[in-house]
Amino acid sequence: MAEKKLSGQTAIVTGANSGIGEGCAYSLGAAGANVVINYVSKPETAQAVVDKIKADGGNAIAVQADVSNEEQVIAMFKEVVKVYGTVDILVNNAGLQKDAKFEEMTVAQWDLVMNVNLKGQFLCAREAIKEFLRRGIVPERSAACGKIICMSSVHEIIPWANHVNYATSKGGVRMFMQSLAQEFGDRKIRVNSICPGAIKTPINTDAWNTPQALNSLMTLIPYNRIGVPEDIGKLAVFLASDDSDYITGASIFIDGGMTVFEGFATGG
Ligand code: BGC
Repeated sequence: MAEKKLSGQTAIVTGANSGIGEGCAYSLGAAGANVVINYVSKPETAQAVVDKIKADGGNAIAVQADVSNEEQVIAMFKEVVKVYGTVDILVNNAGLQKDAKFEEMTVAQWDLVMNVNLKGQFLCAREAIKEFLRRGIVPERSAACGKIICMSSVHEIIPWANHVNYATSKGGVRMFMQSLAQEFGDRKIRVNSICPGAIKTPINTDAWNTPQALNSLMTLIPYNRIGVPEDIGKLAVFLASDDSDYITGASIFIDGGMTVFEGFATGG
């Protein structure tokens, strides 16, 4: 049985009905947290995540909110405080890609990526921080007043042609996270980023769903495997727990070595 490091704590995971968010939700649930499965569409998939966490002996609810919509985010936090009393952990995960050649990129593609990947993180973090400060530290639950985990990407440092909107948003997440860590360190709110490389989820199906695509992906990954959501879930639990109490303002890369630039193993 998994150690219950997060017992009694409540974690909101945005975009938790698929991919990396779903993986984080299972790991946090197994670690004893009450997990809020935020979703924007496909309620049945959110309910399936809730059911699975409950079947494994955990607590979870599904709450719909578009993270880029201020009123909906505020309403989600109200609902969570009503059900679980407070919020201890925010996994700012919801994010998307709208890829295009730069000269063909539409304003709608640019705006949607910025609205979800950046404004969404801002709105959710703001509500989380207000709630952390209202509640204060509860020493028997955690040494910190609250923990925010921002889902970034290797593309917060690796430039990405044909994905300029996405890479720009993740570069923004890096500064967003670090500035928050600086502003709230003295109030014992820890803010960190997880920077995944290629993880097998619906966002990057084209990168792994044929043997050719997977082979070509492996030329970018020294460790020679694609990641899975559970890899990220384990790191989210670590960053949410007091095991990482001295870590704030950090971007942790979890990428099978993608950021060590495998091309240089034989070149340069
Ligand atoms: C992107 C994926 C991509 C991975 C590595 C992620 O942030 O969402 O589509 O496979 O970075 O390039």
